[in-house]
Amino acid sequence: MSIQNQDETVAIDAGTGFVKCVCSHMRATFPSVYATRRMSRWEDPKEGIVEAVGYEAVRMRVYPDAVVVRAVLEGRVAEERAFVAIIREAARQLGCSDQIGSATVVMGLPYGAAEHKQALEKIVERNLKPSRVIAIPQSIGTLLSEDARTGLVISIGQGTTELMAFDDLKPVTGLSMPQACDYLYDGLEYLEYERRKPEKRRLDNFVALLANHLAEFESKLAHPYEVYLSGGGALIEGLCKQLETKIQRTLHMAKDPVYSNALGLYKLGTVVSSSEGPKGISLPP
Ligand SMILES: Nc1ncnc2c1ncn2[C@@H]1O[C@H](COP(=O)(O)OP(=O)(O)OP(=O)(O)O)[C@@H](O)[C@H]1O
Ligand SMILES: [Mg+2]
Repeated sequence: MSIQNQDETVAIDAGTGFVKCVCSHMRATFPSVYATRRMSRWEDPKEGIVEAVGYEAVRMRVYPDAVVVRAVLEGRVAEERAFVAIIREAARQLGCSDQIGSATVVMGLPYGAAEHKQALEKIVERNLKPSRVIAIPQSIGTLLSEDARTGLVISIGQGTTELMAFDDLKPVTGLSMPQACDYLYDGLEYLEYERRKPEKRRLDNFVALLANHLAEFESKLAHPYEVYLSGGGALIEGLCKQLETKIQRTLHMAKDPVYSNALGLYKLGTVVSSSEGPKGISLPP
């Protein structure tokens, strides 16, 4: 299916584990994995190179000579070629590869990756050639998708757990914790989250670390905030309850934790590209 709307907004949350992408008529997700291998003489007399992304790249692991890499590490571009392949795949899966030239593309970045903002925008500009690229702190997406403007977001991703406070959609401060789903699973086990559960010991340690970081983070804030929980890790069985018990408070679980950043980035993109302007949302320079 291809899109008809000339002013499409495409939001791409390219995470360490999964790409989550959203446009006006659909959403898609696939692993942020990129793979290449040289074909054998039996497959191709010229022994050409083949590349793959997402689940197809994961399947390429059966070939001993396949090079399988993550395109994103801790929310940052790990390897440009791999990253370009996954953002192209996002546009393809959304059915908007042909119309991307007239679209606004909104990308999310971790709070601590502000220095990568321009480089990321340039990569997207060069390769997708959209009419506009905006890269913003990804956690704002969670707040926007929950129709909130002020709050503390805890986003449990694959490579990092991000804690970020916003006052009326302005970033106050943030903290990135190196423990996230990679801490809970070995290798690519996380791709099979439907049938694999993290070890209890690792989950207990993770919750203890997160509770500790949250207490430290909140001690630096000028006033209390409602806490919003998002990221695929928020869906790990028992995690939210265990954290609530540990900190003796109720958390606000995002309606759609996996997609909440992407949905919010999409929402922001539609507002920014409309003639009404950003309605009080201050975009970083
Ligand atoms: N329904 C679910 N139940 C349990 N775990 C889930 C579920 N959905 C996703 N996950 C887990 O969430 C993790 C990925 O989360 P997410 O997509 O938010 O990370 P990311 O954005 O790729 O990483 P980062 O933000 O660190 O760059 C994976 O480890 C996956 O196993
Ligand atoms: Mg993420």
